[in-house]
Amino acid sequence: MSLRPILIHPDPRLKKVCAPAPAIDADLLRLADDMLATMYDAPGVGLAAPQVGALTRVFVMDCGGKEAPPDPMVLINPEITWVSEEMRSHEEGCLSIPEQFAEVTRPKEVRVRFLDREGRAREEQFDGLWATCAQHEIDHLNGRLFIDYLSPLRRQLITRKMTKLKRERAQEAG
Ligand code: NI
Repeated sequence: MSLRPILIHPDPRLKKVCAPAPAIDADLLRLADDMLATMYDAPGVGLAAPQVGALTRVFVMDCGGKEAPPDPMVLINPEITWVSEEMRSHEEGCLSIPEQFAEVTRPKEVRVRFLDREGRAREEQFDGLWATCAQHEIDHLNGRLFIDYLSPLRRQLITRKMTKLKRERAQEAG
């Protein structure tokens, strides 16, 4: 397993609709393992493939928290099949938008159909942070970021901060 660099917004690859994974092969499993390692290292509770530059419909998550044993999930070609009417607001962040947080309201529960890393078709119902995270990550696979739920003004402000951050990091690197 190796860590992959996380793309920082704004980046055209974060705005793309990702293609379904055609097969669960060694390359895809390596991508999933690298994404889990990268997510735990960050640390974060979820990471989608486009965030490491792979435009494939895969995301990983573990929302169990520090107290719980690790519960690494790999969701391949995920599809939301049901959402609750009840909504939940949560202060979201994103590894591609470091140190920026904003309240986003989404359905409190969702059901997601996906392939797991063994290629088994599964359907799981998620609640609370797991549901918020799954929706946030599936948005990534459709080129949507949590800041797209904010006002244009707030979004521009965050985007300007990220552009500045990327410039600073490039200068440090180079
Ligand atoms: Ni994110």
